[in-house]
Amino acid sequence: MNVLIIGSGGREHALCWAIAKSPSLNKLFCAPGNGGIENLAECVSLDSGNHCAVVDFCKEKKIQLVVIGPEDPLADGLGDDLRQAGIPVFGPSAAGARLEASKGFMKDLCAANNIPTADYARFSEQAPAEAWVRDHGAPIVVKADGLAAGKGVTVAETVAEAIAAISEIFDGRFGKAGNEVVIEEFLVGEEASFFVLSDGKTTVPLATAQDHKRAFDNDEGPNTGGMGAYSPAPVMTDAMIARTMNDIIEPTLAAMKTAGTPFEGILYAGLMITDEGPKLIEYNVRFGDPECQVLAMRLKSDLLEILAATSEARLSPDMVEWHDDPALTVVMATKGYPGDYKKGSRIGGIDDASDDVVIFHAGTKRDGDNIVASGGRVLAVTARGKTVRAARDLAYARIIDIDWPEGFYRNDIGWRAIEREKVDKNG
Ligand code: AMP
Ligand code: GLY
Repeated sequence: MNVLIIGSGGREHALCWAIAKSPSLNKLFCAPGNGGIENLAECVSLDSGNHCAVVDFCKEKKIQLVVIGPEDPLADGLGDDLRQAGIPVFGPSAAGARLEASKGFMKDLCAANNIPTADYARFSEQAPAEAWVRDHGAPIVVKADGLAAGKGVTVAETVAEAIAAISEIFDGRFGKAGNEVVIEEFLVGEEASFFVLSDGKTTVPLATAQDHKRAFDNDEGPNTGGMGAYSPAPVMTDAMIARTMNDIIEPTLAAMKTAGTPFEGILYAGLMITDEGPKLIEYNVRFGDPECQVLAMRLKSDLLEILAATSEARLSPDMVEWHDDPALTVVMATKGYPGDYKKGSRIGGIDDASDDVVIFHAGTKRDGDNIVASGGRVLAVTARGKTVRAARDLAYARIIDIDWPEGFYRNDIGWRAIEREKVDKNG
């Protein structure tokens, strides 16, 4: 098969890495790719916003599957235009992508189908939004309705903070994504990510993971796209997975089907495991980043086969097999991220890889003989081990050999799972 991956992050490097192992692969392209992806795929400078150009490229290169990594092109209907042109796609339609692209849409769907989630209200004007916050008190969560690269959510500790967040959204910080505001009850519990595949007919539970969203150790500092992750997430026991499928995933997919917009692709549920059971925080309609890196490391089966089967509506649960061992990834980011940071610093010591440790590139590019940082999140050092602790030790041991003074990383990725492992071992 000739395959085109859309995207340039660590997620897309992990997708390319797994797909490159498939015996069904003929030629792999990635648009635009990055400094690590170029070792696995031909990187092409296609603008994913120019759907005609993507369609033309696919026709010229006889592409048999396009895998769309990020949410923006999905929400923008790239999948629809490719399908219209007869090109198979892994990823939902724009209508399916609304599960991520409009928090209000997602919350209304939950409300209409009794799907457990935080209580909420939607507002298109500031005064009633502020009144709702004053009525409900803090802590409370304020969200821009649309896509805001993970930055549109404020977990407000005080009413004043919530009101400031509402003003910021209505003042246009997030552009059109902030035309509406969703305000939610604050949920208490442990977060987990749950991934399922759906081809519109068959649903296959895929895997679980846990992300570390805050920039610094001890879950301090601002929210980021994710500073590390591990899989599986111990809090997602078989019973919790069954309950999540029954209470959250299945009713969502059924509602999408009934609406005439069946969901095809990967559905990533961000969950809060509360005392009352799992509650939906958000949906994403794509692989997580950096969660994809740990899933790729744990997957035993042929990823290309799985994605192609999803796009052709012939998915079956026996296609997906996992290594039992957990995987963990530590993200290295440029100092300053998620705020302002400099680009162009040289990164050394990243050439060697092994079966157990892989360095996925998230924001790099080639500059002559060098690899330089070209983004906020730059590398995802990913390892598999007998335990989360063993995977963590392998990843951090590899990081020591990376020569990049302008980078930083968290030192405590996996802490929650490692604490649990200690308790399990000591009884
Ligand atoms: P989201 O982009 O909707 O996943 O929100 C980003 C992060 O904000 C989540 O991963 C949670 O840590 C936090 N968050 C969002 N909604 C809530 C909520 N209703 N209660 C508690 N925390 C939340
Ligand atoms: N790591 C969170 C996300 O991909 O949305």
